[in-house]
Amino acid sequence: MNDNSERKLSAWRPIDTNTFLFGVPHYPEHIEESWWQQDAERMVACGFNTVRMGEFAWHLFEPCEGVYDFSLFDRAIDVLANAGIKTILCTPTATPPRWLTAKYPEVLRVDKNGRQMSHGSRQHADTIHPLFREFSRRITRAMAEHYRDNPNVIGWQTDNELNTSMSESYSDAARAEFQSFCERKYRSIESLNAAWGGDFWATAYRGFDQVVLPLPNAPVHCSPGHVQDYHRFLAHTTMQFQRDQVEILRQTNADWFVFHNMGKLENVDFRNGFASDLDFVGYDVYPFLHEEKARIGGHAYMQASQLDLCRGYAGNFIVPEQQSGFGSQVDFSTLTPEPGEMRRMAFSSIAHGADGLMFFRWRPAHFGAEIYWMGIIDHDNIPRRRFEEAKQVGAEIHQVAEHTLGTTVRIDIGIASAEFDNDIAHKSYPIGFPSPHDDAILLHRACFQRGIAAGFVHPEDALERLKVFYVPHWLMWKDEWSERLEQFARAGGTVIIGARTGSRNTDNHVIRVPAPGETLTALTGVQVEEFGPLAAPDQEALMGRAPTPHGEFTTTARPTEASQRRYRFEFKGQELTAGHCYEILDPSSDVDVLARWSNRFLEGRAAITRRQVGAGQVLYVGTYLTDELAERLTDWVMANGKVEPLIPDLPQGIDVTLREKDGQKLLFVMNTECFEQRLDSVAAGVDLLTDNRVDGSLTLEGYGCAIIDMS
Ligand code: GAL
Repeated sequence: MNDNSERKLSAWRPIDTNTFLFGVPHYPEHIEESWWQQDAERMVACGFNTVRMGEFAWHLFEPCEGVYDFSLFDRAIDVLANAGIKTILCTPTATPPRWLTAKYPEVLRVDKNGRQMSHGSRQHADTIHPLFREFSRRITRAMAEHYRDNPNVIGWQTDNELNTSMSESYSDAARAEFQSFCERKYRSIESLNAAWGGDFWATAYRGFDQVVLPLPNAPVHCSPGHVQDYHRFLAHTTMQFQRDQVEILRQTNADWFVFHNMGKLENVDFRNGFASDLDFVGYDVYPFLHEEKARIGGHAYMQASQLDLCRGYAGNFIVPEQQSGFGSQVDFSTLTPEPGEMRRMAFSSIAHGADGLMFFRWRPAHFGAEIYWMGIIDHDNIPRRRFEEAKQVGAEIHQVAEHTLGTTVRIDIGIASAEFDNDIAHKSYPIGFPSPHDDAILLHRACFQRGIAAGFVHPEDALERLKVFYVPHWLMWKDEWSERLEQFARAGGTVIIGARTGSRNTDNHVIRVPAPGETLTALTGVQVEEFGPLAAPDQEALMGRAPTPHGEFTTTARPTEASQRRYRFEFKGQELTAGHCYEILDPSSDVDVLARWSNRFLEGRAAITRRQVGAGQVLYVGTYLTDELAERLTDWVMANGKVEPLIPDLPQGIDVTLREKDGQKLLFVMNTECFEQRLDSVAAGVDLLTDNRVDGSLTLEGYGCAIIDMS
């Protein structure tokens, strides 16, 4: 077994490999066998060394219960192997076959309305169900044993985007498993009642067999403690479901690598075994999917921010699926990546930490629920521009991989993330405030636009590598994190703590001392005297704004006088309008006030403070970020936190990062716009993509990329 437990999760963890995995997810079961040889030859022309297969083919691997047939994939693996292409297989548990769901319908998920999921799409089975877990172990064992000695199978993906279509279940089996989970956690029902607040609305239990699932809106809301534990349970069972498979794969062949391809990240806690069980994580990149849904930024920024977020969990990753053409399902369709954009997106992925990349997908399907999800080859089997672009990327990747593998992405401004408990604590009772991520992204985007190396980092990670660490409103705070932040500040770092941080305990109760709690008060030198919600800058009313996963705000209130009140504060000579939340801060005598509230009843009270700590400083921001505040805070940090952009005076639409190791420095510069852009003040070096020397200025064509070796 590859024991990965010693490789601590870190945003700066490279993948332990000498090979850049480059290829495509491929579905030989979707196409005539007579086309396979030509496919393999064309893949070789693209420089592919790997394909990923099998994630939806359980019905072929096990056509009837206990009867296995691997012949189709054996042949497909051979054809590819003869061309020099290795295979990553997937456990096929996202799509259990019909014999299974027909004979054992109890394994189907049940949604919050009591509706049992049906056969016919995917992710319909309940990964919590003990019987489904047993079937998952059986098919994993059968596949692992069959491929144990096949040298062309090099690694495995567990399942496919776990929890992406649906991550919750309210089945009877889920309730029984939840009761056992609670009993293991609390041991006595009195402890559970205390943790969930059983004396509120008579929700106390007399025994664990009475414990219910926190059904949303039945008829109103459950206690935040109850909801928190339900999500911890979902994350725990997801980890267990995957762990079953990982253990079998590792015991069968210790040379295989194992990863998972992350999608929506619902109810997955990476720091609780899920990521450390794997060799590395994978992240599927579909930036166009989110573009039109994105509150801020276009698809280029979406890609950068999602990959930075992914890196915060477990370091460098592979991209097992990256959008190549337009994508669609029955109810939506994305825009089309333009010529050159597939390549630009590939280098952006590498720039943000990818050590392997696969374009989704080799060919589009002619049938099924995704007939218009385009691939490298078109439906008519004619290789066109995406094929030519894949060839170019392939040649270039093989040229630069030896330089990029082993390097990690520089982060000067770290933003606290990768904390499942805090994400759930927020969702369990948001008070209409933005989530930690929604807040964080404003600072991250301000940095992205200025070419500042920003990323997401957990407080237990190597903070000493940062210059600034921002904590975006983490309700649940551990005292040991305060010590780490203090050390970081003493050594010269800048810490910024957002409003409401530390105001709940791990049971999701509001704390009994002034926020931000004892250790953060000692660190920041402030206590919060009062807080309250405000409308977001672009909203008229407080009510009706933030839907929660456990029910929507149903009020259709008209803007009231109260909801239209705007509170302002003065920060560095500028008056800004606060959004989402105000706090009145009570600073101790060793604290400077950087911003004061400037109107209505808050006038004159502290809004942002700064305390000198050793060679560094700790700021407390008594409000949530808005675009404007994120900009001003970034200005302040650049002037006072020793932060410089990777390229000064960056034009809009340039994605820039630095991958580094020891003395080696690779500056990735991608033009995410379709028109030529010129950059001045670029560091000197050699562009690895062209071998041209860069000294001062750089002109990039539309979607052009450069990787400047500055060593
Ligand atoms: C991914 C999924 C693939 C495919 C793709 C395009 O999220 O893993 O199986 O569905 O989206 O929709």
